[in-house]
Amino acid sequence: MQKNFKRFWKLGVEEYNTQPFDITSDGKLVVKEGNYQYNIFELIKKYGSPLEVVFPHILESRVRDLIDIFNAYIKLHAYKGKFFYHYAMKVNQNKEFVLPVVSEGGHFDVASVNELWLVKKMLEQEKFNPKIRVICNGPKNEAYIKLIEELKAKGLTVIPIIEDYKELERFKKYKGETGIRLNMSLKIKSHWDKRFNRYGFHEDEILKLGKLRNLSVLHYHISSQIERVDGLVQPFKHALLIYQKLRETNPGLDTIDMGGGAGVPYEKKGKFYTAKTAINLIVRTAKKFCDKNNIKHPNLIVEWGRYVASPAQISIFKIIADKAVSEGGKRKWYVIDGSFMNDLLDTWSIKWKWHVTPVNYMKENKLQSVWFAGSSCDSDDKYTAGGGNIFMPKLDDLNGEELYVAFYDTGAYQDPLASHHCLLSSPAKIICQNGEIKLARRRETSEEVGKQFGW
Ligand SMILES: Cc1ncc(COP(=O)(O)O)c(C=O)c1O
Repeated sequence: MQKNFKRFWKLGVEEYNTQPFDITSDGKLVVKEGNYQYNIFELIKKYGSPLEVVFPHILESRVRDLIDIFNAYIKLHAYKGKFFYHYAMKVNQNKEFVLPVVSEGGHFDVASVNELWLVKKMLEQEKFNPKIRVICNGPKNEAYIKLIEELKAKGLTVIPIIEDYKELERFKKYKGETGIRLNMSLKIKSHWDKRFNRYGFHEDEILKLGKLRNLSVLHYHISSQIERVDGLVQPFKHALLIYQKLRETNPGLDTIDMGGGAGVPYEKKGKFYTAKTAINLIVRTAKKFCDKNNIKHPNLIVEWGRYVASPAQISIFKIIADKAVSEGGKRKWYVIDGSFMNDLLDTWSIKWKWHVTPVNYMKENKLQSVWFAGSSCDSDDKYTAGGGNIFMPKLDDLNGEELYVAFYDTGAYQDPLASHHCLLSSPAKIICQNGEIKLARRRETSEEVGKQFGW
């Protein structure tokens, strides 16, 4: 019986964010944008590998849906606060990621003077509506503070989130709205549930601060890739309690900014909560709590970054060699023509797990258990799915043709952290939009890489 290859490679599944992906009759990976279709194998023939492929339409629909879902539940629950989506720019600052967010009505969360400078640049180019709102997170040096003041003076809504006592003093004369970051005592189960969090004010500190000038936003960011919906709802409940107490001295406080954290089903196994479930719970919880305690429904902000950006990019590599993992063992190393340490850095730094499929020969029945090895000379440059089995077509059965593989959900945090170990070149990057292909980054030549190192 013919295998259902689409199901085998977990493509076309909404809950896994693979609904735009499909397989052609001759076993090649395609990505759909409405009735446009991109054949990834054909793109590799033209642009070579390693290759990053960005799909702005995926990013746009993630942002649009997120805003629509919040607004729908706000209406359903007769909630009186408003919703604002702020894109955490650190997730991916590339233009091909930032502009689609703006086009769908997203606002910004920036983390440094340079990220804020990108906002200034967009403003100067009259690229966006000046009603856009900017939350400024992270520790702030004087250059960062000056730029906040400059953009505020130009009429932009720029909300600094106060991190520590020094910033508290520095923003005393700030003319616009301010926010404050809460370092929550609550812990949730996730990779980043650090015992000691160094951002913001502890709860008891925040409640002793008294009246703060123009305070409108209570902000927290508890973690990233939160894997259970409870991990989003419990901290929010806790924040509502602090919001209630803080409003006694700061009646202008009218917004809770939940930071980032919504997870993505990277591994495409089992059930993962949906945005609808999470958002319904968030709005319902706020409504119930505020009505019971007779307090103003706060406006709601999320800065979910990886949730919108991850599924909008795939990373393609060619298999350039294979060799046995152990003497006499059946598993093989498949060596890629790129580097995990350089271009999918989380693979190495935090043992990230990715979904990976072939790009061609997707209908091969004979599969080989593999681990992937990067092309740098570092023994840590590898992807083993936590020591598990990864199945790929057997190279011997491919008539000597090349095999390409696609890693999914690589749009968040990988490009901004990329490096040049062994002086390998960064992958080329293309953008697929409205049926057209644009080159966003050429493959670096030896000369260009050398130049970055002073040669
Ligand atoms: C303050 C803040 N907001 C938002 C985010 C985005 O988080 P995520 O990508 O998990 O949604 C981060 C990530 O580190 C953050 O530090």
